[in-house]
Amino acid sequence: MTITSRNMCLKQYPKGTPTSDDFLMTTTEIKPAGKGEITVQNHWMSVDPYMRGRMTGIKTYIAPFELGQPMEGGAVGQITHSGHPDYKVGDWIMTMLGWRETFTAPVDTLKKSMLQKLDVNMIPAQAFLGVAGMPGLTAYAGLYKVGEYKSGETVLVSGAAGAVGSTVCQLAKADGATVIGLAGSDEKCKWLESHGVDHAINYKTAGNLTKAIKKAAPQGIDVYFENVGGDMLEAALNNMNMFGRIAACGMISQYNNEAPTPGPNNLVMIIGKSLKLQGFIVSNHQDCAPEYFSKLGPLMASGKLVQQETILEGIENAGEAFMRLFDGNKQGKMLVKLT
Ligand SMILES: NC(=O)c1ccc[n+]([C@@H]2O[C@H](COP(=O)([O-])OP(=O)(O)OC[C@H]3O[C@@H](n4cnc5c(N)ncnc54)[C@H](OP(=O)(O)O)[C@@H]3O)[C@@H](O)[C@H]2O)c1
Repeated sequence: MTITSRNMCLKQYPKGTPTSDDFLMTTTEIKPAGKGEITVQNHWMSVDPYMRGRMTGIKTYIAPFELGQPMEGGAVGQITHSGHPDYKVGDWIMTMLGWRETFTAPVDTLKKSMLQKLDVNMIPAQAFLGVAGMPGLTAYAGLYKVGEYKSGETVLVSGAAGAVGSTVCQLAKADGATVIGLAGSDEKCKWLESHGVDHAINYKTAGNLTKAIKKAAPQGIDVYFENVGGDMLEAALNNMNMFGRIAACGMISQYNNEAPTPGPNNLVMIIGKSLKLQGFIVSNHQDCAPEYFSKLGPLMASGKLVQQETILEGIENAGEAFMRLFDGNKQGKMLVKLT
């Protein structure tokens, strides 16, 4: 007996912004789990901006995706066959074997890359790829550990309507912040303001961003949560308060660049304003996980933290979902539903 899986692969490494020509669907026949193995049907898979870094063919801190092979990334699914006593048919799990409908793999191998059993009774399964997963922990670690946020401060967030950004905004609001969000459409800004954000600025229509932020936060910015880079970093620097902190989480505006871009022309302000600018990677902040997850349940139950999501259906749309991270044609966490 074999099981058929459809998979999404890279046909070629994208040049600049990824296009549909860069992706390739394949079909593989999978054997059901043998001893020590599990077979998993993926129900949800995540697309995340960091995956663009694995599409360059160059080894960075993580190996590039192999052309013609199913890509990898966070996925949530259910076990359909098990040859391992600790994993039962029907169990919900999270693995890094996304971009495919189903797979069989040894449990020992899966454990090396984030195998996690999930309780989907209180939290919807797909939230483990967003607010209750890597993007949520990124938001928490960036705001509190890197940004050193203290209750009552003013927080500026770029990419504010995205998976990470919308979590930062809601966490900060729940903890007494004044929050200014930067997002790419009026619809996104409306959603942010309806979820407590004090001022959401559509950076595409705002004109002079430094002035727009100053108008929204005349008291200045204490913590800037950076998801985008470029002009937004420059405008944020102009508005930072003395001893402000910048948590550099991502700079998505540069991920598709083919050539280096000029840096912000006002970096010198870091000195006069005695700013702290620190980059971070969530995997280095796993120690925050117990603290974050203990707060998550009550915050979600009270409605102070919600996951907004955009869902495309079918593995055939996974490439499209990924491309939407870069054209902004989505709200909140971008997900692909596979079943
Ligand atoms: N350091 C870490 O460990 C870590 C972990 C997770 C994520 N990240 C980073 O966090 C950031 C957000 O990730 P996410 O998963 O939450 O993605 P996301 O914000 O849900 O999706 C990406 C959003 O970025 C904005 N964007 C895309 N291209 C842009 C451009 N050229 N200029 C301005 N805005 C652009 C778009 O929103 P608009 O329509 O509002 O422009 C788009 O919806 C990314 O930079 C990512 O790399 C870092």
